[in-house]
Amino acid sequence: MSQAPFILTGKAESAGTLKIGLVGCGGRGTGAAMQALNADPNVELVAMGDVFDFRLKQALDQLKGNERFAPKVKVTPDTMFVGLDAYKKVIDNVDVVLLTTPPGFRPLHLEYAVEKGKHIFCEKPMAVDATGYRQALAAAHKAKEKNLSLVAGFCWRYGTPEREIMNRVLGGQIGKVTAVYSTYNTGALWCYPRQPEWSDLFYQMRNWYYFSWMSGDHIVEQACHSVDKLSWALGDQDPVSCLAHGGRQQRIESKYGNIYDHFFVVYDFKGGERGFLACRQMENCSGGNNDYIIGTKGYAKIQAFGGEEITGENPWKLEKRTGIDMYQQEHNELFASIRKGEAKNDGDWMMHSTLMAIMGRESAYTGRRLTWDDIKNSQQKLMPENLAWDMELPEPPIPMPGRTEFI
Ligand SMILES: NC(=O)c1ccc[n+]([C@@H]2O[C@H](COP(=O)([O-])OP(=O)(O)OC[C@H]3O[C@@H](n4cnc5c(N)ncnc54)[C@H](O)[C@@H]3O)[C@@H](O)[C@H]2O)c1
Repeated sequence: MSQAPFILTGKAESAGTLKIGLVGCGGRGTGAAMQALNADPNVELVAMGDVFDFRLKQALDQLKGNERFAPKVKVTPDTMFVGLDAYKKVIDNVDVVLLTTPPGFRPLHLEYAVEKGKHIFCEKPMAVDATGYRQALAAAHKAKEKNLSLVAGFCWRYGTPEREIMNRVLGGQIGKVTAVYSTYNTGALWCYPRQPEWSDLFYQMRNWYYFSWMSGDHIVEQACHSVDKLSWALGDQDPVSCLAHGGRQQRIESKYGNIYDHFFVVYDFKGGERGFLACRQMENCSGGNNDYIIGTKGYAKIQAFGGEEITGENPWKLEKRTGIDMYQQEHNELFASIRKGEAKNDGDWMMHSTLMAIMGRESAYTGRRLTWDDIKNSQQKLMPENLAWDMELPEPPIPMPGRTEFI
């Protein structure tokens, strides 16, 4: 299949059909495809790619089985791509691509999509190390030059209640923000036992969450949402430095790869502000996904899906969650920007939040206080070279503070 790319001209676009492709057909990817199909009256899902054929088929069945989306699903056996290079084949065939694989692959996929002139929805986080950060940031800047839309999956920035309270906070309703404490404390996750016929890479890809080269560890993969809100509340300024603690106490078996199960990070900012992040994935412990923002005139609280409130000199309380679902809103804004011919680019802040999460992880892994310049210039590259299904891929070592070196 070949077609002329849907290029933004800076003028309002015609009502031509926008062809969408999905790279990474898992839970989030399937949801993102539905949201993209819902976001514009003239869109079609024409290509899908995954490293596992059964995952692609599951996602396709789910989309085709939904009577609302089925008429817009135009994927054929010729446009179902499986393998490590599936992303190229999907991207080559579409106007808009949804990048929803594990994040270790994101910089590569983002770079290729921009090179080919495609509009992008890009799930968070956008990299798992500083090398990937620089690669993805360069691609985001290139997207801007090429007038391509790039929307980030940091969904809370698209939530109506979160936008409302953050506008109030950034508008001074609690005075000067002096500290933010964010939590992402949950239980444990899935794990697929190794089968005798699985190669090293097959096994690690089925269990990508537990391998930092693919997930970045849970502080980067999941708690990046909290880091993103923490950064948002502090005006997306660069931290000066951070010092973090972390380890694994429940995840002691080798099936848990090389990631930790808890982190605590303190970020220091130029004006003396502090950001505190606690994240944990452990069974039978108290949970919570909240943000507590402390200002000189009040206090703002954001409870994930639970409510927003400001106390202090200028109190306010959200009565009821309103507005469009934040996951849908991301796609509504992406497609509206394409139709208007006004590219939207979330590149700078999405990469900033991603790097702050990586910084926290590396401080915990090494036990060292790290500056923003340290992490921006880090030469770490977690992705193994020349990935191949039959390669020998030993499990990476578990980081040990005080012994693991900062690269
Ligand atoms: N914004 C949110 O709230 C939210 C929620 C869940 C997940 N996510 C993000 O979405 C991404 C995917 O998470 P998920 O929960 O859907 O995981 P998942 O395991 O359900 O799906 C990932 C899919 O990508 C495929 N894949 C892996 N490597 C690939 C490659 N190189 N090329 C093509 N396909 C590849 C896997 O086989 C799998 O089907 C992650 O970055 C995650 O952090 C975001």
